[in-house]
Amino acid sequence: MSSTVFQPLTLPNKSVLPNRLAKAAMEENMAIEGHLPGDAMFKLYRAWATGGTGLLITGNVMVDHRAMTGPGGVALEAETSLEPFKKWAEAGTQNGTQLWMQINHPGRQVYAAMGGQVLSPSDIALDMGKHSKLFGKPKPMTEEEILELIERFAMTAARAIEAGFHGVQIHAAHGYLISQFLSPLTNLRDDAWGGSLENRARLLYEVVKAVKARLPESAAVSVKLNSADFQRGGFDADDAKQVVKQLSELKVDLVELSGGSYESPAMQGNTADGSTLAREAYFLKFAEEIAHNTAMPIMTTGGITRLPIAEQVLEAGVDIVGMGRALAFTPDLSNKWQDTADAKANLPEIEWKDKTLGALAVMAVTKRQLQRMGQGKAPKPNVSPFFALVADQMRLKKLTKAYRKRYNFA
Ligand SMILES: Cc1cc2nc3c(=O)[nH]c(=O)nc-3n(C[C@H](O)[C@H](O)[C@H](O)COP(=O)(O)O)c2cc1C
Repeated sequence: MSSTVFQPLTLPNKSVLPNRLAKAAMEENMAIEGHLPGDAMFKLYRAWATGGTGLLITGNVMVDHRAMTGPGGVALEAETSLEPFKKWAEAGTQNGTQLWMQINHPGRQVYAAMGGQVLSPSDIALDMGKHSKLFGKPKPMTEEEILELIERFAMTAARAIEAGFHGVQIHAAHGYLISQFLSPLTNLRDDAWGGSLENRARLLYEVVKAVKARLPESAAVSVKLNSADFQRGGFDADDAKQVVKQLSELKVDLVELSGGSYESPAMQGNTADGSTLAREAYFLKFAEEIAHNTAMPIMTTGGITRLPIAEQVLEAGVDIVGMGRALAFTPDLSNKWQDTADAKANLPEIEWKDKTLGALAVMAVTKRQLQRMGQGKAPKPNVSPFFALVADQMRLKKLTKAYRKRYNFA
């Protein structure tokens, strides 16, 4: 009998996802000059689209080139040429695959070496212990900047759909700007955008409304949300439940549940507050509870690499199984599961004492696989994490220098 993961799902906007498997967003850092997707990105997305996963969510695309999550990132703004994005959409929609663009603003999670704008609801800088200096001190946003930001999200979303993407995902997780507004640790404002949960979530709701107002009804609108920040006093599970309820009222098509931030990398299975996450499908317990209380489709991402776990996620009432790293190491894992139920993605175990460097090594080893696929090569799971990290840092340093020089940032 065919696995439950291969059953289609109709979303509230009536579009149909061919199966229950989704590639979660993974920033590629592979953009060409002008923050544009190029040939390597097209090759990479073609590989994923032909790999059998029903929904592909792109790595985060910036709504403003002056604030980038990292060098080599993609940005889609009012003046950006749409041609490369049409090619990207063409590659990622092969095989009947649904393709959504994740749109994001980093807020305070901007590397100091990058420069540019470091904005946040308040002036609270990242606390990463001895690595804190890697990030700039943020400037609290003015009301005008908040309104401009909402408009930017709506405009990027509209242009993504114009280019041929089927939907967008608003990134409200992992400690980026919208997530900074949601958290009482980073949002100390006493105006309409801070204080109560309703106020802290106002930016997210306004972005969702503005995006929906600008898109055709056939386009999917999704939100990626933390089930919790996993920091004492931060955005917690009860807050997340309230926000999900409101997003359902706003007729969002899918909420993806993840968790954590740079300060507390729960999305990689490690938390700063010592919470215990499941060893596989990290956020399943929370997602299950949410899924039982809402008709809106729910997806959970984090730690899933095996078909029996993917099936367990669906049995728990969650609608979509999100996978990041598994599909970086095995881009056709979904096809493989059609034939071999015990096909597994071989993720390397990276357990370093310095959690920050360990998290960077995980990212570096994973990105190495994306770059290989962009060159038409197969992934190579056994690359040395140490050498991958050094090579990644050198590559990022070069890209960072070029970014700074291009915009003349001080
Ligand atoms: C290299 C890399 C880049 C990532 N970039 C993004 C991103 O752009 N947006 C996002 O929401 N999550 C991003 N993530 C987090 C993943 O979407 C996912 O939540 C996380 O990796 C846990 O899922 P997994 O265990 O299946 O990999 C990234 C993860 C990795 C490893």
